[in-house]
Amino acid sequence: MHKRTNVRTNGCTDAQMREQIRKRTKTRMNKNTGLHPVLGYFAPSGLGGATHLIKKYSCMRGYPCQGGVCDYGLWAGLQPLAADFLPLYFEANPPMKHPQEPLDESRQGEALLLNSEQGAGKKLYLESYGCQMNFSDSEIVASLLAENGFSTTRNLYESDVILLNTCAIRENAEQRVRTRLRELQHLKKGKPSLVVGVLGCMAERLKDKFLEEEKLVDLVAGPDAYRALPSLIAEVESGQKAVNVLLSLEETYADVSPVRLTGNGISAFISIMRGCDNMCSFCVVPFTRGRERSRDPHSILQEARDLFDAGYREVTLLGQNVDSYLFYGGGPKKEFKALSPEEQSNAVNFAKLLRMVAEINPQLRVRFTTSNPGDMTDAVLESMAAYSNICKYIHLPVQSGSTSVLDRMNRGYNREQYMDRIAAIRRILPDCAISTDIIAGFCGETEEEHQDTVSLMNEVGYDYAYMFEYSERPKTLAARKFKDDVPAESKNRRLKEIIALQTEWSKRRNEEELGKEVEVLVEGLSKKSDQDVFGRTSQYKVVVFPKKHYKAGDYVRVKIHSCTSATLLGNSIE
Ligand code: 5AD
Ligand code: SF4
Repeated sequence: MHKRTNVRTNGCTDAQMREQIRKRTKTRMNKNTGLHPVLGYFAPSGLGGATHLIKKYSCMRGYPCQGGVCDYGLWAGLQPLAADFLPLYFEANPPMKHPQEPLDESRQGEALLLNSEQGAGKKLYLESYGCQMNFSDSEIVASLLAENGFSTTRNLYESDVILLNTCAIRENAEQRVRTRLRELQHLKKGKPSLVVGVLGCMAERLKDKFLEEEKLVDLVAGPDAYRALPSLIAEVESGQKAVNVLLSLEETYADVSPVRLTGNGISAFISIMRGCDNMCSFCVVPFTRGRERSRDPHSILQEARDLFDAGYREVTLLGQNVDSYLFYGGGPKKEFKALSPEEQSNAVNFAKLLRMVAEINPQLRVRFTTSNPGDMTDAVLESMAAYSNICKYIHLPVQSGSTSVLDRMNRGYNREQYMDRIAAIRRILPDCAISTDIIAGFCGETEEEHQDTVSLMNEVGYDYAYMFEYSERPKTLAARKFKDDVPAESKNRRLKEIIALQTEWSKRRNEEELGKEVEVLVEGLSKKSDQDVFGRTSQYKVVVFPKKHYKAGDYVRVKIHSCTSATLLGNSIE
């Protein structure tokens, strides 16, 4: 048997056990194996499943994950280990964000936990997939259920309700969730009272399949139906299947008091709008999340103020298209035109909202995502220039560098118009970092059109990019109108080409920082050494430097001495 048993039979009390774990987990991951030494110690020898467990830990600790949804705890041999050890491990090592990768890729399948655990009551296990918006929604869900007596857990075995907050953006995102649901079936067999539910973007499209054909879940709730969750869970408990996938023109969850699922306690996300009206031909979001609606700015400001008072030092305002934010009293944006000139002048647009949030406190950094090239105004850039605490970083998805592809994508801008926005950023915010999203192999994309993307990347010189192969989504304009006709090998080759090019650009952009002094907001210990801390610059660049007396939440001036394509290294300037 593995050594964990020995620790217990040595006569350790729970408190001693905690202390031992705390001490041992101070040692960091082994660089060569990628394993945390304490897990090597605790994992039963010779069990292949342990690797899964370790990957999951690694991923949640911010270490590089080999990918995929890991089934820690489900693997029978690890069950006792997971049940006893996980809560103690996480108590000793609060999970942190992966410092170098986009949150939406590194935290897929993360089980989320309320920062402050409430006492007894039913236990909710909540796992999130997809974009930051979805992770933010999970905080709303946890909050709504906490009000109804639920507490959160990371231990699947003690949960009464398991909810997966799902993503539908690409086929592989959906596939991950299906695999996960099948795994959860084993748990349900052993505990028939367990409620398993699917939330979020897959809900509408797959409700019948999940409930009836595949019988994978008891409950399905769409992104606008979270207030109904307590009653949906009660319905399941009374022996029925429960569904609510209605999309709303009004729901913004503005009044839901914010809860923070495990994060670093320094940066938090605030959802400022929901849905999307853009109808890009590749995108499933308008179908999964419905029409665009903006949240009352007063509730946004209140949430940001509360976060600052609780010690947070960075907020990211979230929306599918933040530049389109417009609040004039509630409801869909298209009704704005019907208002009187006076009512229209009282409205709050995104440029104004940014200023309002920035004025809460100069020590509160303000970020936002995602911008839309068709809607981004100079007024927004001017707001950014006027406040040093509005971070100089813009994520401006281009999707393709070819005007003909952009036209098929129904993006609402051409290459020249996109480049005009880049020129405006460079003019108004000379020190601004820019990142983008790119899709390789969209319907009908020729080699020449692909080369247009390559040339645009060279023209802009992005600091980062998130790059994807095109994946056809049901119901979308592209699925109805075009053939997904770029061969898989070409898509893959083009993707590899643009990834390689972006790696070069990221390195080049980081090299430009060498010798500069930058201001870093510390987020936590470095993933490689607990003698170092890491944080970000205003431009969202990760900086690692010696820890000294610094702690999360400190603003530190750092002089950069070296870099990789992903990280800047430096020394603090006292
Ligand atoms: N296939 C591939 N990538 C997609 N994205 C959105 N829809 C698809 C799709 N069908 C990408 C876009 C978007 C990002 C969030 O995901 O680049 O900006
Ligand atoms: Fe987010 Fe879009 Fe995925 Fe929904 S489908 S979770 S909005 S990325």
